[in-house]
Amino acid sequence: MKRIAVIPGDGVGPEVVRESEKVLRMVGTMDPAVELAFDHYEWGTDNYLRSGEMMPEDALDILQHYDALLFGAVGSPAVKDHVTLRDLLLKIRFGFDLYVNLRPVKLLDGVETPLRNAEQADVDMVFVREGTEGEYAGVGDRIYRGTSREVALQTAVFSRRGTERVIRWAFELGRRESRSVTSVSKANALNYSAVLWDEIFDEMALEYPDVPAQRLLVDAAAMFMVMEPERFGVVVASNLFADILTDLGAAIMGGMGLAPSAGLNPERVYPSMFEPIHGSAPEIAGRGEANPIGSIWSAAQMLDHLGFSAWSAEILRSINEVLRAGVVRTPDLGGTSSTVEMGDAIAAALTQPKVATPA
Ligand code: NAI
Ligand code: MG
Repeated sequence: MKRIAVIPGDGVGPEVVRESEKVLRMVGTMDPAVELAFDHYEWGTDNYLRSGEMMPEDALDILQHYDALLFGAVGSPAVKDHVTLRDLLLKIRFGFDLYVNLRPVKLLDGVETPLRNAEQADVDMVFVREGTEGEYAGVGDRIYRGTSREVALQTAVFSRRGTERVIRWAFELGRRESRSVTSVSKANALNYSAVLWDEIFDEMALEYPDVPAQRLLVDAAAMFMVMEPERFGVVVASNLFADILTDLGAAIMGGMGLAPSAGLNPERVYPSMFEPIHGSAPEIAGRGEANPIGSIWSAAQMLDHLGFSAWSAEILRSINEVLRAGVVRTPDLGGTSSTVEMGDAIAAALTQPKVATPA
């Protein structure tokens, strides 16, 4: 039995996570070996407006005992974004040492990419986003607040250990899957942090002579993602750079609603967290029209992490089947179907995977 903590969050978060849970429950009924139990934690902005806290003080103690976390999104026009993000999502990512944030960028069947000439085979990248430090470390201050001499300081934190472990993880993935590894940084301008990052990448590349390695500056990387997406296999980058580039990745895939992420604690000391990369999308929240595919795909990543890789692949196959058929399509993909109809269709298209699932 695997215990899953579900944190739906704000806006479209609960709407898309409900569909992921539906698909996971369907897998559970189809295969008794996939035994999942869900607990729900209604943390987020409503909780904050009620109690002054996004989540209770002992939230991490509660979550620690789960096998995995399924997360929706946080953020609301009612509260400043740095509060909602830092006091919930980043607390979990940092507290549970989720230093590998895995974000595939692939073209799904039957979804149009804005890249005019790109074939499906050209776009197959996976971002390894650092998740515990870098530009998101939260180190800084504001002094002389509210005066004309106000100063804001925001310090990025790049440790040798933090940089080495995420880059090593990327090279291991490159080796396992026979793919190149691209490092994205900006060492011409960031003359301390990015220089350290690049030095470590070059050191590590020597340890993996079998893995083709390249380094790009982040601005050029953005350009190449559009002009020559086939350049990329595994891409490793800092917290901020990979955050930005994976929104570009989602756009290349055909929409924000399609892109998943797995926040991994590779040592499995803490539970890993699975979520779509999009936010709470307040302008479409409550209308039942959010695309649940990013969330459902993240649930597939979760099954892979929990040892049910055949079912993980089956969910992705089912997503592709539904998209290929083109009958059920949410408005972001040019259709009129609802979030629930999309979830229903993906759950209904599941078939028994060929490989038996290990118990
Ligand atoms: P967003 O990702 O929520 O929305 C960006 C655009 O994508 C919007 O046009 C939205 O309608 C669309 N979109 C997002 N998810 C979609 C879905 N499932 N189906 C169809 N369309 C979808 O980013 P935005 O607007 O910058 O931020 C909104 C709020 O979300 C803010 O409060 C922000 O702080 C928060 N946020 C939270 C994140 C998280 O919880 N992981 C990540 C990014 C933003
Ligand atoms: Mg983002």
